[in-house]
Amino acid sequence: MTAMSNPSTAAGIAATNGSSANGHQLVEYRRIYVWELPVRAYHWINAIALVALCVTGYLIGSPVRSSYVPEAFQQYSFAWVRFIHFVAAFVYVFNFLARLYWGFVGKKYAKWTAFFPFKRSQQQEIVDVIKADVLEVKMHGPISTGHNALAGLIYFGTFLVFVFQTITGFALYSSMSTSWMPRMFVWVVPLMGGEFAVRFWHHLFLWFFVTFVIIHIYLAFYHDYIEGRGTVSSIIGGWKFDRVKKGDK
Ligand code: HEM
Ligand code: HEM
Repeated sequence: MTAMSNPSTAAGIAATNGSSANGHQLVEYRRIYVWELPVRAYHWINAIALVALCVTGYLIGSPVRSSYVPEAFQQYSFAWVRFIHFVAAFVYVFNFLARLYWGFVGKKYAKWTAFFPFKRSQQQEIVDVIKADVLEVKMHGPISTGHNALAGLIYFGTFLVFVFQTITGFALYSSMSTSWMPRMFVWVVPLMGGEFAVRFWHHLFLWFFVTFVIIHIYLAFYHDYIEGRGTVSSIIGGWKFDRVKKGDK
């Protein structure tokens, strides 16, 4: 596998240093605080809310038959499923709004500019990540301290889907609630061609999230293994490690 000979792996570093590839040679690393507490809190609240939304959403679309229970009060499970969906929906929306705010006041790694490849260097990084990680036609992929430019762009796409799910979710909710928040989205239903269409699109994007989460978790572990600088633990504790290069202060 090309990964093991990549200079960013322990074996690769050893090879570049000319020492043995047993992972015991000294390499200098700098510890960098990358993900501030609000970013980490957003990440895990979002992950929990999203899993709850996907599971309960799936059950709303394909209800589990529970009518064999002897007492009527025992048939209340579907109401719990919907209740959890709606609670998770509010948590998810306000958590997302908090993250948007942090995109303006947070450190450079959390800033909204990290999600748009405006700079030439970011565009080049996207090409390099695709060549190294996706097509595997290039040996040395770029190693970014925050999100790499391609990951940032994909998160931005995910944020757009977050917004879409919120709009369609509140549109569905608007016919069952008198509260001002869902009522703000009443107009979406006729615009999208009726409740059936809104429900269809709202359901379809469930599968976008399922796909995203599987690939995302795989990539988090992949980068952790390839780069060996604490990618997975960084989203828990906030710190990553950058290799000190010649000429660094
Ligand atoms: C990413 C997050 C979300 C996912 C994956 C998701 C998923 C789903 C799914 C699959 C359904 C069932 C659709 C069907 O086949 O009938 C559903 C229903 C629904 N969702 Fe969501 N949803 C999300 C976010 C939201 C949000 C933010 C709201 C806002 C309140 C919301 C409100 C609703 C409502 C009102 C229903 C219909 C419930 C019913 O008719 O009993 N959802 N959701
Ligand atoms: C439902 C599950 C998950 C969702 C929806 C999700 C979503 C996201 C999002 C949106 C970001 C960007 C964060 C930001 O800048 O605000 C992110 C970053 C990150 N996530 Fe997750 N995540 C999930 C689960 C996980 C898990 C289980 C892990 C680790 C095992 C993980 C590891 C990471 C890491 C390491 C980053 C930073 C990656 C980078 O450097 O680009 N995530 N995640």
